[in-house]
Amino acid sequence: MTTSIVPAAGKGIRIGSNLPKALIPIAGKPMIFWTVAAFERTPVVDAVVLVAPENFTEEFERLRKESKWEKVIAIVSGGADRQQSVWNGLQAIPKETDWVIVHDAARPLVKPSLIVATWDAAQEIGTAAIAALPCSSTVKRTFDGILVAETLDREQIWLAQTPQVFEADLLREAHEQAIRDGCSVTDDAMLVERLGVPIRLVFGDPENIKITYPIDLAIAEALINSKV
Ligand code: C5P
Repeated sequence: MTTSIVPAAGKGIRIGSNLPKALIPIAGKPMIFWTVAAFERTPVVDAVVLVAPENFTEEFERLRKESKWEKVIAIVSGGADRQQSVWNGLQAIPKETDWVIVHDAARPLVKPSLIVATWDAAQEIGTAAIAALPCSSTVKRTFDGILVAETLDREQIWLAQTPQVFEADLLREAHEQAIRDGCSVTDDAMLVERLGVPIRLVFGDPENIKITYPIDLAIAEALINSKV
């Protein structure tokens, strides 16, 4: 069984909204509507656990009914950071789950084909796989945000996206180890890397953008309108 966890509990401070980011409208629907729709249409996905912002679980329940989501089996409340939110989601996955797909609500343009490709790669290697894109910019390291310290070899840099697919026990173990170590990260793959387990890179999708700034909303809206 494959269960997706969709962390959607971010506040959207960088986007400058009063609404939690996952509820900001894109092409007439809340962002989370588009994200869940992709998982509803992906054959390898059996169930979806949504992690809603605190105080917004009822609004998510309302959306579940209105949108007739069939795979959403649980809506849980999020934590103080993304890692805590995914951990809360992990507590709600069915115990029969063999594979977990973690995908940010903030990437509503994900395509079922990318979800399946990442899932396939994880099955093949037996541990984990993540969508990522080779870096197209020249990358500078800075220690103070003022001066350039050095240029990194961009051939070695890939930018992580979600979906990220993990064998379920491995993801649980990675999160438990991080809690023991007091380690805080921005994606789940990093927790699995710390265990020294191999993770396959899958060529991601430039359209699978992460909505962070107001301009991203305009781009997402244009992309969705070009397809419907
Ligand atoms: O803030 P950022 O866009 O990096 O967050 C990535 C994803 O993690 C988003 O989908 C956001 O809703 C989610 N998140 C969460 N709980 C938090 C912070 C972020 O579920 N406390």
